[in-house]
This record gives sequence, structure tokens and C-alpha cells, in this order.
Amino acid sequence: MTNYKELGLVNSKEIFAKAIEGKYAIPAYNFNNMEQMQAILQACVETKSPVILQVSSGARKYANATLLRNMAKGAVEYVKELGYEIPVVLHLDHGDTFETCKDCIDNGFSSVMIDGSHHPYDENVALTKKVVEYAHAHGVTVEGELGVLAGVEDDVVAEKSTYTRPEEVEDFVKKTGVDSLAISIGTSHGANKFTPAQCTKNEKGILIPPPLRFDILEEIEKRIPGFPIVLHGSSSVPQEHVATINKYGGALKDSVGIPEEQLRTASKSAVCKINIDSDGRIAMTAAVRKVFAEKPDEFDPRKYLGPARDLLKELYMEKNKNVLGSAGKA
Ligand code: G3H
Ligand code: 13P
Ligand code: ZN
Repeated sequence: MTNYKELGLVNSKEIFAKAIEGKYAIPAYNFNNMEQMQAILQACVETKSPVILQVSSGARKYANATLLRNMAKGAVEYVKELGYEIPVVLHLDHGDTFETCKDCIDNGFSSVMIDGSHHPYDENVALTKKVVEYAHAHGVTVEGELGVLAGVEDDVVAEKSTYTRPEEVEDFVKKTGVDSLAISIGTSHGANKFTPAQCTKNEKGILIPPPLRFDILEEIEKRIPGFPIVLHGSSSVPQEHVATINKYGGALKDSVGIPEEQLRTASKSAVCKINIDSDGRIAMTAAVRKVFAEKPDEFDPRKYLGPARDLLKELYMEKNKNVLGSAGKA
């Protein structure tokens, strides 16, 4: 048993309260390997931003849960070495069972998500409540979810999204005791969010997808004022990196992500955690493909994973400064 406090990590309670008050959102970036973890921490230290390091079930399978959490245990020491201390949360992304959440809580995670959004309402409530009771006994904060996002979450593929029903949120929060709530207002997981055909062109010729349902967000905020809200599926699908991938032999589909201005608007509301993973994957892939195309004789992984790490760091620094508004808040 390792409690997160022994590792110098923090739970999400205080940083969420500050983010709502200060009208910004905390970045929640996923990692599966050392380079991603380094890029996330370097970007957040250099921009002086609090950070949520996210581990999905897929990441636990890919990297081995024990190895991954031991890497994360070094996160706080690494941050100190980088020269500026920022709050670091270690968070389970899309926990699907009580057992997975318990395993993370028992092994140093300071925050967990229990994603019961695919279950009928009462089952979601019962499962979430069970996780909350265990987590709170260990000082760990819990994120629940109401409404379903389209896209891929580990092994679950949802074809269509179901928006969060504002009339359910108050009851859900009261019955479960969750610390934050992920909602569905038009974002979706993965790199293929909107096809160009689903978008309209603005005056600059840029494709704009259907706007997020800020009306639902407002209705939710009215019903649970000041309660921390989370947005998943918030990648913007950076077109320059998609172009690099396709220029150097990739075949990513034409796709449009969530416009950064809309995320900036959301960050100023009760949305205090924004999840981004796909944009990082796209940036890393672009950097790796470029090296492979330009230096076909290169075979040292550091020579392609290094540039991938650098581009990822740059991307996340930009997000913190210009999208989430979290830069300078640590
Ligand atoms: O929401 C999903 C995250 O991007 C994690 O993805 O389940 O493929 O690790 P993953
Ligand atoms: P994206 O696929 O849009 O990056 O969303 C990531 C996410 O929600 C992780 O939980
Ligand atoms: Zn998600």
C-alpha cells in the first residue's frame, strides 16, 4: 500500500477550486511511456501550470501497471529537479471497475475516474458511490461521468454521443458524493471527431464544426453551482501535424477537432479539467515520421523519440498558455 501523500502528489480538490475561481482549466494529459511523461512534466513546469497525469486502462495494459505507477512515483522528484514545483495529480482515466480504482488508490494514485456512463443510471450511481466511499477513506478524489461521448474509450466504442441530461446531475452528485463530473456536450474521443462535411467554413475559410452545447453546460452550472466539471475528448486535431504525417507517408483522414476558442470559453466556466490525448499522439507521430522520411539511415530510438518528445512538449506548452489558461497558475 502506498498513499499518494507519501509521494508528494496532490488530489484534485484544491486545484479545482482555484481553477474555477481563476477561470482556467487544469490540463489532463495521458501518458503511456517515459517520453510522454517527460514532455508533460517539462511543459507544465516551464509554463508553471498545475498538471494531471492521466493513466488509462489501456496504458496500464500497454506499459504494465506496476512499471507505470513506479514511473509516476518519480514524477514529483523529477519536477523538483526541473527547478519549479507544481502540483501534480496522478489520475486513473476511465476506470471501469471498482477493482481497478481500488488498485490505483492502493498504489499511489491521488485521483480516479469511475466511468459508469455506459451503465443504466442507477447502476452508474451505485458503482460510483462505492468507489467514492473507498477513495475518500484514503483522501483520493473521484471523477464520475454522466452522458456518453462518441468515439473509442479503451475497448468501448460508442457510435453516437448522448448529451448529459442536466436534470440528472444534482441527484447524481448528491447520491454519489463525487468530487467532479465529466459531461457530454459535443466533444468526442479520438482523432476523427468531425468530417469536413459536418462543418461550415468561416470567413477565413477555416472549417468550424457544430459548436459545443454551451446551453447544456450553463443549465448544469445552474443546477450545481461551482461544482467542478470535466471535458473529455478535447483534442483539436492540429492540422499542421496531420499534414506532416500525411506528407511523410501517413494516411490520416480529413478530420476537424474541437476549436481551441471553444475550449478557451469552456475553461472560463465551471469546466476545470480538460482531457487531451489524441493531439499529443498526432504530434509525436508527425515528428517520428519526419525523422524516418528525412533520415532513413537513423535507427537509434533516441533520435526519433527525442524530437517526438520535443514537439509534444511544445504542443502542451501552447495549450497551457493559449487554450486552458493554466500557465502561471502553479
Ligand atoms: O479517453 C481515452 C484516452 O485517450 C485514452 O486512450 O484508452 O487508448 O489509452 P486509450
Ligand atoms: P481526445 O481523444 O480528444 O484527446 O480525448 C482524450 C480523453 O478524453 C482522455 O480521457
Ligand atoms: Zn476520456
